[in-house]
Amino acid sequence: MTISGVVVACILLRCAVARSSQPNIVFVLADELGWHDIGYHGSRVQTPHLDKLASEGIKLENYYVQPMCTPTRSQLMSGRYQIHTGLQHTVINPDQRSCLPLDEVTIAQKLKEAGYSTHMVGKWHLGHYTKGCLPTKRGFDSFFGFYNCAVDYYTYEKGKFCKFENETVLRMRGTDLWRNDEEHVAPYYQGHYQTHVLAKEAEDVIRKHNPSKPLFLYLAFGAVHVPLEVPKVYEDMYADVKDNSRRILLAMATCMDDSIADVTGALKDTGLWDNTIFIFSTDNGAATAYGGCSWPLKGGKTSLFEGGIRAVGFVTSPLLPPDMQGTENMELMHVSDWFPTLVHVAGGELSGTKPLDGYNQWETISLGRPSQRTEILINIDPLIPCEACANHTKWDHKKFDVHVHAAIRMGEWKLITGNPHHNYWVTPAEYPNMKNIYLNEPGKMVWLYNIAADPNEQDDLSDTFPGIVNILLDRLAEYNETAVPVQFPDCDTGADPARRGGSWGPWV
Ligand SMILES: *[C@@H]1O[C@H](CO)[C@@H](O)[C@H](O)[C@H]1NC(C)=O
Ligand SMILES: *[C@@H]1O[C@H](CO)[C@@H](O)[C@H](O)[C@H]1NC(C)=O
Ligand SMILES: *[C@@H]1O[C@H](CO)[C@@H](O)[C@H](O)[C@H]1NC(C)=O
Repeated sequence: MTISGVVVACILLRCAVARSSQPNIVFVLADELGWHDIGYHGSRVQTPHLDKLASEGIKLENYYVQPMCTPTRSQLMSGRYQIHTGLQHTVINPDQRSCLPLDEVTIAQKLKEAGYSTHMVGKWHLGHYTKGCLPTKRGFDSFFGFYNCAVDYYTYEKGKFCKFENETVLRMRGTDLWRNDEEHVAPYYQGHYQTHVLAKEAEDVIRKHNPSKPLFLYLAFGAVHVPLEVPKVYEDMYADVKDNSRRILLAMATCMDDSIADVTGALKDTGLWDNTIFIFSTDNGAATAYGGCSWPLKGGKTSLFEGGIRAVGFVTSPLLPPDMQGTENMELMHVSDWFPTLVHVAGGELSGTKPLDGYNQWETISLGRPSQRTEILINIDPLIPCEACANHTKWDHKKFDVHVHAAIRMGEWKLITGNPHHNYWVTPAEYPNMKNIYLNEPGKMVWLYNIAADPNEQDDLSDTFPGIVNILLDRLAEYNETAVPVQFPDCDTGADPARRGGSWGPWV
């Protein structure tokens, strides 16, 4: 950026501050939208509104999330890695006495403290076993949405099996849609498509907002997570796509795109848009078994390969310097960075949190300055078994057990150990001539890639650069020393909706 660009940018930001002091923040999180499932990545999917918003803002093209729902959401809310919150193993199940630990400070609490009206619409998935875990107890003035990983798009139902050691199975099923954690509203919304319902609620928040206060709206769509359901009018747009899952998923993405246009339309109608920072992000890579696609990246949801974690994301705002609007940002960023970044943008204070793993990236985003971050701890999950590598010799490292599912990015390098999940490429199913590519690497448990040169992870360099492998293993060992025990309790039958009139909700 030129000096004059910086000056203009600073003047503009100061103007914005003078106009109404704190910007509105609207954060839209899509569920499992893969790298290949956004129009501007050259996909068959039609997402014209998101493409336009992104083209007017800054596309974050070197931006990472976690490979699953709860992990990404926990880091967005707390600014802290999973090894520091005990949430390193998969996701919170509907029947577990687990949630984002109650001594973690959330971004909503910090923004509320800074004077914001804070509202959440959509999927929580950070635990609901006791009332203290719920969104309105974690910093949100209002909440409309569901607690679980996914609910049916029309009935708001969620099923779950508990398998016990004595081989019995408890089959649980219930509805999950709440207003302000008090009123179970699923019966009123049954038959109405979830994506539309959530967008309408977000519009209501916007239209009812008192503009004398800044607004923080966190809108977390269920789309495009399973179950694969969509109004027919959207499915018809993809009649040529023969693969059923793929056709419906593409239609779900387009429906979400339309709904996001309704939300930005409400921001513009009310005049809030002129002072709004709008952020769009996915929560993890594509669920490739259910119509999603992270191509040309390797792997998908749950995987430590790029297809699980390299995210679709952008920031759009009239407050951004004009010469930054319409650019791509290739600086390294991570979902844990939003906490300090947005608290900074809001003029809030970071004091009172536990040590953050995220960095304030506002100058990186708004002025194109180098990233504050050189490293990402992707995860260390000691509970994911690696049957395939059980009988193979360890990489000779004294402090880090490479049988464990773990990964780290340092500069251009990325190291993966243990069972990485999804060691293959899934091609877009709308092109039936493209075949998925599978690898046969029995017993392998260490991979090293230069992501800058090889973003699709085709050339494992671990044998070529054992010195770099060891440096990254040393670093993983250092992180491991700071890890707290994994919190992953057994199924608690007390969660059964049958015991509480048919809905999922707090039982302790
Ligand atoms: C099996 O274990 C579960 C959980 O401990 C218990 O609720 C259930 O009654 C047991 N079933 C039998 C047949 O023992
Ligand atoms: C590992 O070795 C044990 C004992 O020899 C054998 O039972 C098991 O099948 C082997 N596992 C794999 C994945 O090869
Ligand atoms: C992490 O540290 C714990 C506690 O010292 C140790 O038991 C475990 O093996 C370490 N994990 C790895 C992957 O080395």
